[in-house]
Amino acid sequence: MAELATQIEDRGNRWQLGLYSGNACVSGLGIVKKRIRVGGVSLRMGGIAGLWTHSDHRLRGFASRAMCDGIDFMRAKGYPLSVLFGIGDFYHRYGFSVVFASSGMDIASSDLRRARGPYAARPMHRADVPAAVRLYSRYNADRTGSAVRGRSWAPTWRMPRMGEGTLRRQGRGLVVVSASGRVVGYAAFDAQAGCLHVSEVAGRNQGAYASLAAAIGRRARRAGAENVRFHLPRGDPFGDFCAQFGSQRFAAYPRNSGSMGRIVDLDRLLLQLCPLFAHRLASAGCSLSRPLTLHTDIGSCTLVPVRGARIDLGSSGGRAWTVEIPQMVLTQLVFGYRAVRDVSLDSGVRIPRSARGLLDVLLPCSHPYMWWADRF
Ligand SMILES: CC(C)(COP(=O)(O)OP(=O)(O)OC[C@H]1O[C@@H](n2cnc3c(N)ncnc32)[C@H](O)[C@@H]1OP(=O)(O)O)[C@@H](O)C(=O)NCCC(=O)NCCS
Repeated sequence: MAELATQIEDRGNRWQLGLYSGNACVSGLGIVKKRIRVGGVSLRMGGIAGLWTHSDHRLRGFASRAMCDGIDFMRAKGYPLSVLFGIGDFYHRYGFSVVFASSGMDIASSDLRRARGPYAARPMHRADVPAAVRLYSRYNADRTGSAVRGRSWAPTWRMPRMGEGTLRRQGRGLVVVSASGRVVGYAAFDAQAGCLHVSEVAGRNQGAYASLAAAIGRRARRAGAENVRFHLPRGDPFGDFCAQFGSQRFAAYPRNSGSMGRIVDLDRLLLQLCPLFAHRLASAGCSLSRPLTLHTDIGSCTLVPVRGARIDLGSSGGRAWTVEIPQMVLTQLVFGYRAVRDVSLDSGVRIPRSARGLLDVLLPCSHPYMWWADRF
């Protein structure tokens, strides 16, 4: 391979990594600085974005070098996790596996307009954003994969691709408000070519959901859209509420593409998840009766019980349960994308039968999801 130098520049909300051959940048990627939730715990996450190699230099291992340098850099900077939204059959080389389904719901707009809610709707203004962020945080408090939005978060309502002949552009926000003017729900949407897509929705209660449904139905009518497509996770409270109007839910689980993640630093990740593990065990009325060692291809870690039903990292002391699990599979369990029973036949996985119940409690299956506004 040609002599290459890696340069990494801090651009505020992201790191930009470039591979240089002399003065020419021949390949590169961005690492977006974010925090995401795993079971309610906020973790730093590096989001890989815009991997590219100049067309004159492809298939010479440059992108691989950029990916490996990027992962090493994230580890050095203390990121436990990385996520990306990528092309197919490519990122597994760098330890990424699928962690979110592509899911949503279709409803006929005339059916949505049957909803009767108590709140008035209007466009979202800049001044509504802090209230919307508070609603978002409450609505997604337990949603693994959801981004943590800080106080200074400003919406760029990124939309999914809406089909042939449509523009990739930002959506618009609407809010539903109580009689006193309090924001009790919001949605982000765009209508193009007779189609209305909703990329995000959150509400305080069922009244807010009903008011949002009706408001979205009216906007669909104005846009000449017979159908509304909501992009939301399975188990979403608004989505469940809308079952009464007649809806079709969909979920695509890609084989080796799309929303993917990997563990960057196993020790750091598990250390930060120890309080969550203790909480999950306590909620299930059980405890870690002996150490649990996870052997992966990126290292090994032992969870040990400590006084007061706490869990810490420690040494196995020879009487631990020993689980062998590739990092790519463990990542899917950490995200709750797959269930312990479903990974037990995966290549390289060895889970003692007596530890399966415990792992089920520590790493339960859920519906991980990152809303479109936070994707990169
Ligand atoms: C995808 C891209 C970054 C690959 O860059 P590259 O420098 O040619 O990649 P490498 O030479 O490091 O290839 C690494 C491996 O991926 C394979 N590969 C290369 N391009 C691929 C592609 N588009 N799809 C799947 N596999 C690909 C190579 O065959 C090689 O496989 P191997 O390790 O089994 O030999 C480059 O083609 C590109 O810039 N494409 C346009 C932008 C793009 O699609 N970026 C990804 C956004 S998610």
